[in-house]
Amino acid sequence: MEYLRNAWYVAAWAETLEPGQAISRTICDEPVAIYRRHDGAVAGLADQCPHRFAPLSMGQVCEGSNNLECPYHGLQFDETGDCVVNPHGTGRIPAALKVRSYPVVESHTLLWVWMGYDEPDVSLIPDFSYLDPGAPGTASKRDWITLEADYRLVVDNLMDLSHASFLHRGILGNPETLDVELEIVEDGNTLYVNRTRGDVAPTPMFDLMFKNDRANVDSWSEMRWDAPANLRHDAGITEPGSPRSEGLLVRGTHLITPSSKDTCYYHFCAVRISDRVAPADDDTSIAERLSAMRRFAFDEQDRPMLEAQQRAVDRAGGPEFLQPVMLSVDTAPIRARRMLERQIADQGPGQTGSVTSPVSIALPN
Ligand code: FES
Ligand SMILES: [Fe+2]
Repeated sequence: MEYLRNAWYVAAWAETLEPGQAISRTICDEPVAIYRRHDGAVAGLADQCPHRFAPLSMGQVCEGSNNLECPYHGLQFDETGDCVVNPHGTGRIPAALKVRSYPVVESHTLLWVWMGYDEPDVSLIPDFSYLDPGAPGTASKRDWITLEADYRLVVDNLMDLSHASFLHRGILGNPETLDVELEIVEDGNTLYVNRTRGDVAPTPMFDLMFKNDRANVDSWSEMRWDAPANLRHDAGITEPGSPRSEGLLVRGTHLITPSSKDTCYYHFCAVRISDRVAPADDDTSIAERLSAMRRFAFDEQDRPMLEAQQRAVDRAGGPEFLQPVMLSVDTAPIRARRMLERQIADQGPGQTGSVTSPVSIALPN
């Protein structure tokens, strides 16, 4: 599979990585060791030692130097990927003892890895500032799952929320949620799909968080997509005819990172933003219920469906052998795929990955 290289990919929620800790993620088929220095800064190296291919993520972040030490025979690498300590023999360091380094930044409480070969551009990280510390609202758990499915199937799923009426019936959708006004807006490299409905029954999840009285509402949903698969979903309800500002907004985060052609990571979190306190409720119980409902919907409803779709694709021999029959609801997913394909085509040749630096064969020490 060809990936978009000059892009930021979410590796983890920032809170999962303590100072001195390293984790491993395979992103775009490349194993990456992501670690936090003792001073709090984050860095990334190819997760494969050039000596005997041990995962560097299993090693330790050295006190003082902050070098990442290979757990197998103790070579140490600095954050540029150069080997700087060889504890064996004369200590000579062959030129080939180096690994690729990956820029990692901490932004909006997430760790983002730059998988490209061009200079990293932090302005390409989409705005998720509502997740920043101190931002208003009540956040659900910063959660994540892994899926055995092509990450593009997850984007298809999110860009067409008509599936909520069926797959998430009784939680995030009901039969009435099918009847929407659909608007698709392309803004540069960003795509929006907006769904609005007036004077309809609220979905159970929203009713619970709003007034818990089953009374009709106006509702809106705005899904924002940025390549490769970073989405924000604004979903809200208000009393019929009332301004949105008097209603309830739930800002959902959906960050999909391809691991391989048929596996991906899915990070999610939602922030409830409203001046209105849900009846007989407090922030803690809202956050807990929101967390539980979202985890259930994504892990126990979307994931089995997406993985079953992937098995169908695999049975056919690959996505090129299984063309879907399109419906009216597929306009936005198709548009997002085309925009992604265009950006991948525009990045030109030579953007293929490698965990090792292109240097000559190492001589024994
Ligand atoms: S495998 Fe890393 S030092 Fe031997
Ligand atoms: Fe879903």
